[in-house]
Amino acid sequence: MAKKDVTRLFKQFAPEHYDLSITPDADKMTFAGQVVITGQKVGRPSQRLTFHQKDLKVTVVSVVKHDKKGDQPVEIDRVNTQKSFDEVRLHSKSMLYPGTYTVTLAFSGTITRPMNGLYPCFFKQGTKEKRLLATQFESHHAREVFPCIDEPEAKATFDVTLTTPATDTVISNTPVKKRTIKGKQATTRFETTPLMSVYLLAFVTGDLAHINAKTKHGVEVRTYATPDNVKFTEFALEVAVKCLDFYNDYFGINYPLPKCDLIALPDFAAGAMENWGCITFREHALFVDPKNTSLPVKQYVAMVVAHELAHQWFGNLVTMRWWTDLWLNEGFASWIEYLAVDHIFPDWEMWTQFITDEQQAAFRADALENTHPIEVPVHHPAEIRSIFDAISYHKGSSVIHMLHQYLGADNFRDGLRHYLKQHAYKNTDTIDLWQALEDISKQPVKKFMHDWTSLPGFPLVKVNHNGRKLHISQSRFYANLADQKDDGQLWPVPLNTNLKPALLNASSHVWDESPTKGVLKINQGNTGFYRTIYDDVSLNHLATAVSNGALEPIDRLGVLSDLFEAAKAGYISVKASLDVLSHYAHETNNAVWDVIAGNLGSLRAIMDDEELRDDMKPFVRRLVAAELKRLGWEGPKDEPHFDSLLRPTILGLASVSDEPSVVKACQDRFKAMKKPDDLPADTRGVIYNTVARLGDQATFDKLLKLHNASDSAEERYQLVSALTAFKDPNVIAQALKQIDSKNVRLQDITYWIAYSFMNRHAKVATWQWFTKHWDWLKANMGSDMSFSRLPMYAAGNFNDRDFLKKYKAFFKPRLTPDLERAYKQGLETIEWHAAWKDRDLVAVKNFFRAQLDNS
Ligand code: BES
Ligand code: ZN
Repeated sequence: MAKKDVTRLFKQFAPEHYDLSITPDADKMTFAGQVVITGQKVGRPSQRLTFHQKDLKVTVVSVVKHDKKGDQPVEIDRVNTQKSFDEVRLHSKSMLYPGTYTVTLAFSGTITRPMNGLYPCFFKQGTKEKRLLATQFESHHAREVFPCIDEPEAKATFDVTLTTPATDTVISNTPVKKRTIKGKQATTRFETTPLMSVYLLAFVTGDLAHINAKTKHGVEVRTYATPDNVKFTEFALEVAVKCLDFYNDYFGINYPLPKCDLIALPDFAAGAMENWGCITFREHALFVDPKNTSLPVKQYVAMVVAHELAHQWFGNLVTMRWWTDLWLNEGFASWIEYLAVDHIFPDWEMWTQFITDEQQAAFRADALENTHPIEVPVHHPAEIRSIFDAISYHKGSSVIHMLHQYLGADNFRDGLRHYLKQHAYKNTDTIDLWQALEDISKQPVKKFMHDWTSLPGFPLVKVNHNGRKLHISQSRFYANLADQKDDGQLWPVPLNTNLKPALLNASSHVWDESPTKGVLKINQGNTGFYRTIYDDVSLNHLATAVSNGALEPIDRLGVLSDLFEAAKAGYISVKASLDVLSHYAHETNNAVWDVIAGNLGSLRAIMDDEELRDDMKPFVRRLVAAELKRLGWEGPKDEPHFDSLLRPTILGLASVSDEPSVVKACQDRFKAMKKPDDLPADTRGVIYNTVARLGDQATFDKLLKLHNASDSAEERYQLVSALTAFKDPNVIAQALKQIDSKNVRLQDITYWIAYSFMNRHAKVATWQWFTKHWDWLKANMGSDMSFSRLPMYAAGNFNDRDFLKKYKAFFKPRLTPDLERAYKQGLETIEWHAAWKDRDLVAVKNFFRAQLDNS
């Protein structure tokens, strides 16, 4: 049955301006306020005005109609709060005709811990317990704070006034217009905002400090944090200024506000939120401590800042009409963050990392039968939770990457400029972007993009030589070949090589005479969103090219990951992919090593066979030997970025394969360490994980103490990864006990659960803990984005059909609409893992045994 769309209130009343005053009380955990909404009643005459609200107490102060005769008061005789619709309905005695109205409402509510609407953040300063208050309105939580039309299309201007303790720092979207102090209270009035959607409104109050800088165009940029931590925001501030300068130029429109604040919050549900001019972050996503931050986290900070700043234009200035187009907002920002960071840090090789972090992640999610097309109808904003996923973000950015390549950099940028200019301060649908790009580039963008966004999955392209003929075909790739159907899905596949025609538009195409000599590599640069498998002869040529260093890193990476994934699915034998892996003995590129490490990891995890683990060790030790020697534990000061990123990967592989020198070094360093910064930031994680994997109760105690004493989010996550990596069942039980204790913040629960499931010794105990604490999880993080991912975390590390039964029995009676897809993906993943193990365990063992015999 088709789901019914939620009623759009914007179709009945279009707000133009809000005058909003709020007095929050952080101690009593309550708030009260008044909102004056001016706007147009549209559509048919009726006897009611309806606004969104949730869990508020609303009273009507006045309703006035403005027309030629002047201002007419409207009598409201009944106010109804419609709980199931999140609405408040004001019923009038007289008929209300279209026209301009001013509605004044008083409201009050309570502040609760779930991290949306208006919520508290807790932190300690010395021994003093302190609290901040912050808002998180995307997607539909503004209604929990004041009555409004809580839909992205209902753009209006806002005057915000907040009454707080006079000692508080108070921040909102625009600069402060006026601050008056009366006794212990301050009233802060902010400048009028531009025309904007209500989900982008925000404010933060409490004890915060900041540092500041200016862009070339004079925009004031500030980074805020709790006072002890503001020193860690220097890197983010520098990146923010450079990003704003870059986007001003790239988008051809100057940042539309006079100031831009970036605020780190000690409690935060997602990673960051692009509120216009008042951007909020998890501390982990904004802090860089030169002594303690690892390089991947430093990169992550730059990427999150670049992502949220891109939304200031793409999302805030031009906004999706409805949540169905959330993917475009997020997919685009997830693509352009690479462009901006690549511009600022050209030697970080961000576009190579794009392939591993975005495209490969998208393939993994999209290979499942239970994936979904990028474009899915969102009937109610509550459904967003289930599409806040790898498809919207990673596949979204990947198809934009492909489009960028298809149009060329200049056409793409010019089309984008045209789009932003044309739709500034308005709302759009995805098709409007395609149209703008088409107008500028004169290329058939709508036609090209249609199949990539409306079909689930992606193509597997097969290359075959038959005599002198070259045969290339496509069909949908399935994670588990057993799920393959003849669904006839076709995509316009850019072959990205020198073949003509350049697009494969049909299920197959035959070239009478192979037009290429020597090595044929399809999808050069891997910009096309598809995987490729080759016939034996072509594959041999490619493997030789890998050995000779004749392929670019991205192409080496593409060949290897396509081979492994095709083997895991059953399209080719796993032996073929392992044979090709032997050609990577001289590999030095970090991104290629990510693929190697990832695939060795999945052999270990999915096959989950102790003998196999042991048999793999000598092979892996040999594979990493050259790089281990080259990189060692420390590099030169001016070391290439990719070498610094690669070191922990190589040390990690050496550690899990029991390379004695590495294991001993980890143990010695941990023993000698008094405080975390005695260990270098980049290799600290390897050290913690190694001692945990081999460690006892005393090791656990030392790690737990470090965890509980740390107020660095990054340090905590590294420690969580170690604390959940023990073998001893007693220690595992203690680790699980932490999750609902005061030692763990609500925002960090999912790390503990996901990591515990990843530990093969702990996964069964974690499942028991998980099922026992399900109600607690639901109550405490049920409204978070990450909640709907829990069934996948649970399934991802199991490969047996017995567990499948337990998994089904547990979830079936507990399924809610937002869990359904993740649940089905979980079932499918377990089935696929079981099938792969049945098919290939013996062959994989034989491969590694043969290597042992040869050595
Ligand atoms: N707008 C999102 C956060 C969001 C999405 C909140 C949907 C509520 C509903 C923000 O721009 C975002 O994408 N944040 C990411 C970080 C980003 C660098 C990928 C996040 O929170 O993980
Ligand atoms: Zn985003």
